This record gives sequence, C-alpha cells and structure tokens, in this order.
Amino acid sequence: MTLYYADKTIVLGVCGSVAAYRACDLASQLTQRNATVITAMTASAQCLVCPASFEAVTGQPVITEMFGPRVVPGIEHIALAQRAALFLIAPATANILAKAAHGIADDWLSTTLLATDAPVLFAPAMNPAMWRHPATQDNVTLLRNRGALFVGPASGTVACGDTGVGRLADRDAILDALAIALHADKDFAGKRVLITSGPNHEPIDPVRFIGNRSSGKMGRALALEALRRGAEVCVVSGPAETTPPAGAEVVAASTAAAMYEAVMARVDKYDIIIAAAAVADFRLEQESGEKIKRGNDAVTMTLTPNPDIIAAAAAKKRPGCKVVGFAAESHEVVNNAAEKLRRKQLDMIVANTIGGENSAIGGDAGEAWILTPNEPAESLGHIDKAALAARIFDRIHKLP
Ligand code: CTP
Repeated sequence: MTLYYADKTIVLGVCGSVAAYRACDLASQLTQRNATVITAMTASAQCLVCPASFEAVTGQPVITEMFGPRVVPGIEHIALAQRAALFLIAPATANILAKAAHGIADDWLSTTLLATDAPVLFAPAMNPAMWRHPATQDNVTLLRNRGALFVGPASGTVACGDTGVGRLADRDAILDALAIALHADKDFAGKRVLITSGPNHEPIDPVRFIGNRSSGKMGRALALEALRRGAEVCVVSGPAETTPPAGAEVVAASTAAAMYEAVMARVDKYDIIIAAAAVADFRLEQESGEKIKRGNDAVTMTLTPNPDIIAAAAAKKRPGCKVVGFAAESHEVVNNAAEKLRRKQLDMIVANTIGGENSAIGGDAGEAWILTPNEPAESLGHIDKAALAARIFDRIHKLP
C-alpha cells in the first residue's frame, strides 16, 4: 500500500534501545513504499546498529552528528525540520522522551525536534520499569498534551528478559500509525464507522467448517482509511488472515449469525455502516456435536439461509446514517450490483468482479464500480484496495 507513504519525506530518529535493529526493517518498508527516509541516529543507537545499514536500505545519507564531515546540504537540521512530512522516533528511549518533553537540544535529533512543526510519532521501547516510572509517564503526558503521537509500547518480553509493557510496537502497528498521522485532513472527525470484514466459518462439526476465500483486506483498508480521516472505527471481523488496523475496536464474529448479532446490537450508534464481509449465505441446519466419521456412504447436509446483515442494518439504521454494501459478481456486474442496491435499500454499493485475473477476493486490487441510487455507475477500473477505500469515503462525503 504505497498510497499512504509515497513521496513523503520521513525523518526516522533511531535511539539507543536494543530494538534499534528493528528500525532497519521499518526504514526498508517505508523506502519500498516510495517514501524518502532520512535516518538520524543518536550516539547510543550507533553503538547498537551500524549507520551503513540504514544508508543501504534507504539510499540516503544517515545523520550521525550535529557538525562534521557527514553533514550534507539539504539535510541540515532546520532545512529538514521544515521539509519533513513527519518525524518517526523508533525506537524512542526514555532519554529522548525526557529531552523532547523539556526542550533539551544537545544533539542533532533533539535539536531538530525543537525546530519542527511536523507531526512527531514516538514508538517507545525500553525496560518495563523505565516505561512505568512516573518521570517517563509524566513526560509522555506532556508530549501528548502538546500533540505528539504515540504507538505502543507493546507488552511482552524485552531484551533484558523482563516481561511487561516496553516492547517496540509491531512493524505493522507502526506503519498503520504512520499512515494515520500522515493524513492531515480529518474530514470524518466525530463520525462513527462500523465495518463488517472477512469471511465467516459455518461449523459442520467440531473440526470442519464451510468458509470462503475472503482475506479481510478490503475491510482493513476501509478501517484504516476511516481512521486516517479522523473517524472512530469498529470492525466486526470474521476469522480473516488480515487483522484490522491498531486503533480500531475489533469485535470477533466467526459465523454469520454472530456477525448479525454484533451489527444489530450497534446499528443505532453509527453514522456510517459498510459491509465488506463475505457473509456466508448458508449455515448447516444441524451442526454435529461430534466429529463426523469417514465412511463409504455419501454425506448429506441441509443448508439453511443466514440473515441478510446489511439489509437488516439498512432497515434499522438511525436517521442520517449511510449504509454501504459490496457486490461480488462474476457476470453482469453492474446490473447485479444495481439490483442489490435497490433490494437491500443501500445508500451506495461497490461492485467488484470475482473470478479470473482481476478477482477482488483475496487480492490487493480488483476491478470496481461505485453505484448510488440516483447517479450512473462510476467505473474505477482496476484499483488498489487502499485507493478504493479512499474513493469510497470521498463518495460517502458527497451522499445527500
Ligand atoms: N451481505 C450481508 N449479509 C448476507 C449476505 C450479504 O450483509 N447474508 C452483504 C455483503 O457484506 C455485501 C452485500 O451484502 O456488502 C452483497 O453481498 P453478496 O454476497 O454480493 O450478495 P448476496 O446478497 O449474498 O447475493 P448473491 O450471493 O446471490 O450474489
């Protein structure tokens, strides 16, 4: 998903925590997504990881000192403070949090943090006792109150063997937090968005189920886009291979019946409801409590229809709520989607082709159209799921 990071200059501040080696992967991931990553390493970070590693993965010079032979025009601290779209401090030590909170400027990174108006995202990593310490917690509060952003720390075992909150957040959580921080226009602030996502598993017996190929990627892209635009997000998620972004509330719902219950319990609290889940249309009339043994006879199962979740949500929605569905079609894509838009009483439907080379199910992109009740279908061509999510929210904005 290059969309979030492409053509952005990100200053990656690397401090002296053992997790510094993980910043290399972050730098590489961002560079692969077409961001320009300028790494600034503190003196202690350089004792743990070699600057050449960052130079190699970013293709950019690495800042290691305030004055000296490595200083390159254009990455001088004031110039970069003004040019950067964002400062990501990962790993952020207790020391850099203390310096940033109190305006101490005694090296390149702390000096440049004082000189920038760009958003600053801290990803702390330290011993759990250091993180818990009131001095650190007070510094975090000070920084948050000034608008600084934080991702993590996560809980687990840290380098010294202690267990608790202090681990550098996972790479994907940091990338999500960055994607959210890099989107300045919070045009859905104050809005609550409910998204169904992923497949359902309808049990046959204690070990088998009926499922489908939905990956949950579309639901994830929608949730991340909603968070980027300032909304509060809840994802009712089936057992998908993709996890929803950090920052979204997640309600796990394995079966269609559980998904129905979860959505209907919340329907009157949301401004926008989007059904990206590939809901199982049928469940077994009678699930077997015991494992069905293999024999030589054919096994017959009776399937019974599941409730239509989005149609039920559209019928119960609160006034002003916008309900958006998806239509996964293998033929007559636009006509079938238009029929679903009417039948389910939706405000918008996104038609996708399934099957063949451009199938939307499971992939990162697909062929898509947006349909609303009173306008001709808009063809979006073959489109990446992140870009599609952005187009969907643009259109939701324009709904009457
Ligand atoms: N949907 C739902 N509950 C169901 C079935 C579908 O909420 N029981 C939602 C899907 O999340 C999607 C939309 O309805 O937003 C259309 O889903 P799709 O599977 O394309 O259509 P179906 O109604 O299942 O019709 P068919 O399988 O006949 O195409």
